[in-house]
Amino acid sequence: MALQVELIPTGEIIRVVHPHRPCKLALGSDGVRVTMESALTARDRVGVQDFVLLENFTSEAAFIENLRRRFRENLIYTYIGPVLVSVNPYRDLQIYSQQHMERYRGVSFYKVPPHLFAVADTVYRALRTERRDQAVMISGESGAGKTEATKRLLQFYAETCPAPERGGAVRDRLLQSNPVLEAFGNAKTLRNDNSSRFGKYMDVQFDFKGAPVGGHILSYLLEKSRVVHQNHGERNFHVFYQLLEGGEEEMLRRLGLERNPQSYLYLVKGQCAKVSSINDKSDWKVVRKALTVIDFTEDEVEDLLSIVASVLHLGNIHFAADEESNAQVTTENQLKYLTRLLGVEGSTLREALTHRKIIAKGEELLSPLNLEQAAYARDALAKAVYSRTFTWLVGKINRSLASKDAESPSWRSTTVLGLLDIYGFEVFQHNSFEQFCINYCNEKLQQLFIELTLKSEQEEYEAEGIAWEPVQYFNNKIICDLVEEKFKGIISILDEECLRPGEATDLTFLEKLEDTIKYHPHFLTHKLADQPTRKSLGRGEFRLLHYAGEVTYSVTGFLDKNNDLLFRNLKETMCSSQNPIMSQCFDRSELSDKKRPETVATQFKMSLLQLVEILKSKEPAYIRCIKPNDSKQPGRFDEVLIRHQVKYLGLMENLRVRRAGFAYRRKYEAFLQRYKSLCPETWPTWSGRPQDGVAVLIRHLGYKPEEYKMGRTKIFIRFPKTLFATEDALEVRRQSLATKIQAAWRGFHWRQKFLGVKRSAICIQSWWRGTLGRRRAAKRKWAAQTIRRLIRGFILRHAPHCPENAFFLDHVRTSFLLNLRQQLPRNILDTSWPTPPPALREASELLRELCVKNMVWKYCRSISPEWKQQLQQKAVASEIFKGKKDNYPQSVPRLFISTRLGADEINPRVLQALGSEPIQYAVPVVKYDRKGYKPRSRQLLLTPNAVVIVEDAKVKQRIDYANLTGISVSSLSDSLFVLHVQREDNKQKGDVVLQSDHVIETLTKMALSADCVNNININQGSITFAGGPGRDGIIDFTPGSELLITKAKNGHLAVVAPRLNSR
Ligand SMILES: Nc1ncnc2c1ncn2[C@@H]1O[C@H](COP(=O)(O)OP(=O)(O)O)[C@@H](O)[C@H]1O
Ligand SMILES: [Mg+2]
Repeated sequence: MALQVELIPTGEIIRVVHPHRPCKLALGSDGVRVTMESALTARDRVGVQDFVLLENFTSEAAFIENLRRRFRENLIYTYIGPVLVSVNPYRDLQIYSQQHMERYRGVSFYKVPPHLFAVADTVYRALRTERRDQAVMISGESGAGKTEATKRLLQFYAETCPAPERGGAVRDRLLQSNPVLEAFGNAKTLRNDNSSRFGKYMDVQFDFKGAPVGGHILSYLLEKSRVVHQNHGERNFHVFYQLLEGGEEEMLRRLGLERNPQSYLYLVKGQCAKVSSINDKSDWKVVRKALTVIDFTEDEVEDLLSIVASVLHLGNIHFAADEESNAQVTTENQLKYLTRLLGVEGSTLREALTHRKIIAKGEELLSPLNLEQAAYARDALAKAVYSRTFTWLVGKINRSLASKDAESPSWRSTTVLGLLDIYGFEVFQHNSFEQFCINYCNEKLQQLFIELTLKSEQEEYEAEGIAWEPVQYFNNKIICDLVEEKFKGIISILDEECLRPGEATDLTFLEKLEDTIKYHPHFLTHKLADQPTRKSLGRGEFRLLHYAGEVTYSVTGFLDKNNDLLFRNLKETMCSSQNPIMSQCFDRSELSDKKRPETVATQFKMSLLQLVEILKSKEPAYIRCIKPNDSKQPGRFDEVLIRHQVKYLGLMENLRVRRAGFAYRRKYEAFLQRYKSLCPETWPTWSGRPQDGVAVLIRHLGYKPEEYKMGRTKIFIRFPKTLFATEDALEVRRQSLATKIQAAWRGFHWRQKFLGVKRSAICIQSWWRGTLGRRRAAKRKWAAQTIRRLIRGFILRHAPHCPENAFFLDHVRTSFLLNLRQQLPRNILDTSWPTPPPALREASELLRELCVKNMVWKYCRSISPEWKQQLQQKAVASEIFKGKKDNYPQSVPRLFISTRLGADEINPRVLQALGSEPIQYAVPVVKYDRKGYKPRSRQLLLTPNAVVIVEDAKVKQRIDYANLTGISVSSLSDSLFVLHVQREDNKQKGDVVLQSDHVIETLTKMALSADCVNNININQGSITFAGGPGRDGIIDFTPGSELLITKAKNGHLAVVAPRLNSR
């Protein structure tokens, strides 16, 4: 829904305008109109979200009113520029959910209502984009919400940062280290039910991808006096109560503990073991689980709890005085448990608790302790055991948090985000050494805050030559010096008193203070005070005017606590402990070390100096926590208390500097480097002076003169919105640059890919073309060689076989043979045959014969018996007549017939006369008389044995083949023939002259039957035949135009035969 919210200059009234429809407006009790629908967003506009927007920014009342207004609406966060002011609501506001994290993640600071997560996100993004270590400094007095804020920050990072590639468990460990440290280092105080009794600075390491990869914790001065003593209404450290409440029966039995805090003297001093706001039982479960997460083995847990239990047992050790007033342990049971839990010798421990070992002139002497001394030794042991265990615990957690692959390259490029949650400024009824240290620590941090925000800022304007009206503020350096200065500082004096030989007491220390720093405006004692003030100061007290208010310290215990001495034999006893943790806490080398250890205050001072250095090396972010009331109540806005905090936290000065100054400054180089992409003239490189580049750049961006100032080395931007607008523009520009780079890269990438493919394709192509080319060349070469060989062979074809013509000849031969296959004669009559090359002439002939034979063979196989007979007869006819008789050629195409007369045409009497003799052939013939040559029609029959001439029913003549001496025919085309008969045979009438129309057929059959092929005579001119006994006839043959058979005058038979063949 589009909603416009308009901020009226007072910063108080919100007008909500919906562009399309009028919406329901609600009138808030304080004049704030909000829409029902967007109550949340509108609510966030209650008051001003940033004090910088406050109209009356110099008025403390307006400042507090704004805080109050917002607090009433449960809006606990307000900015002073980049500094977040947080007021403890003392109630769960449901503003740290997953949705809230998402809402603030990656969003510009000014676009969302003020929130811890907005700071968290800004810091994280700065860490990522600028790759500079960051530190979030959370300050405020005890109970103002520092620890709570630290936890929320950690939670935010754990939830929203990307998981590291390896060791995702780091996130859990970072989170889970907290409940464990709180159990051992937090306690209920009057100010806070979960007051941190140690200072904590935690580094979270992020890899270059922004994933948490490790962590490290520095702890500062645990308030160990709490182990043995608590003020009224306060408790010992949580862990004791948690163990007694939540520990399983079995475990308590092992540790020799009862489930009742009242049974332990160390837990009853404050008389409030049970607190309604604390659930020790469920807290115990959380701690127990957390221990596993941070790599505690079951054995280590057992060892740790043994120590916790042993502290409780120590507290219950009682002494009684013997006759010589020497202390004796009366609680054997406790001693027994202690012996077991700490793994030490019972007798040694007993002796150590009641005696003191002195080394005088190289000799050890045991001197018994009186009751008071014994109790002191016991408490000292309890404190030492507990505080050293706490130190060990921090070390153990650090080992668990340490990045597992410190060697990997990503480790080297880690950036660090520091979270500082240290005990807040504290004022009690009775303030002791611990409060002195805690408040000194707060002085130091305030000093750092002043240095970084007020002082250095103003100095910077001066250095940069920016016109500037200095803002007055209270610089607490004077108090820091009062405490820490060499020789004259309180710590120096305390140390001196501790080390001084002779009877030094807390009171002599006080006197020394009075002597040395009596004129200091922030220091006061009973003696130094004026009359009215004196009443409020005891004789054993001194008062410091801290930046956050006056605190009166009782000097009692200062020397002791600063010395922190543990009798030598107690140390020795602990060094022999079988408990692995104890043996790590008490190192034997400590015994042989002759050098006096640094005093507690000096150690603390050193560690603070170190802390300040650490913080200075990082980009700071501030969260200033304010406590709304002293009674831990939700909704109560104690104006006096708050005004006090606003004052000492220097928030007003902070605001004034902010308003007068510039929200943002940057070295020209850095500014140009970051934003140069926004101006065409400066992008991608600016060759001139960075300052000029920045000038060009901001002109291009359209900065108005009042929005910025140019310093000597830096540009100063007055309003965040100017920078945010520039940042937004950069964001957009980055997108487009990223797109461009992406596109260029993709183009490059794909082009590389394409070129690769192209190269491959060309490679394959050229290879393939090469192959083809080589093949073709080889083929051509072969062809050329072949042609050359053929030509050469052709030229030498007639020469004798030699290498030069061998190929040609072979070719000719093979091609002849191959062609021959196609050109073979189709049938037996086809006489064609390809002409062979000379070399194959013989083979060709053989082949041809073979071919013919084959054809003949094939032909022969295919003919019928009748046809075979026909052909045989034709062959015989050919043998007899071919080329000899004129009418033979005409006979060739005419088929021979088996017989020319059927059985029915032959007279049965003739058949009868022949008897069993079969007739092989019968043909009608004409017989010429031997004398008158009269033609007479007859039948000629051939039997297997004889030629029979028949006249109707009468066999006229039978010529046995044996008597047939020959057959004569003319060479002309006539069809006369003469059968010559044996003359001696008287029965025979002489030769027979016959004429058959089928003379060739008839004679062929007769020759075959009579087997007288060779006896057929073909005569030219005339035939002489025997016409009867002693008388021969002659037949003359003459060629003529037509057949004429007549008896010539000379008595010869004259035959004129037409000429048929022109021979
Ligand atoms: N943002 C908050 N929301 C709700 N309760 C809070 C918040 N901050 C602090 N508190 C309450 O105030 C108590 C004290 O806060 P804590 O952070 O321990 O103070 P400090 O560390 O500054 O001494 C917490 O136990 C919690 O109950
Ligand atoms: Mg705290």
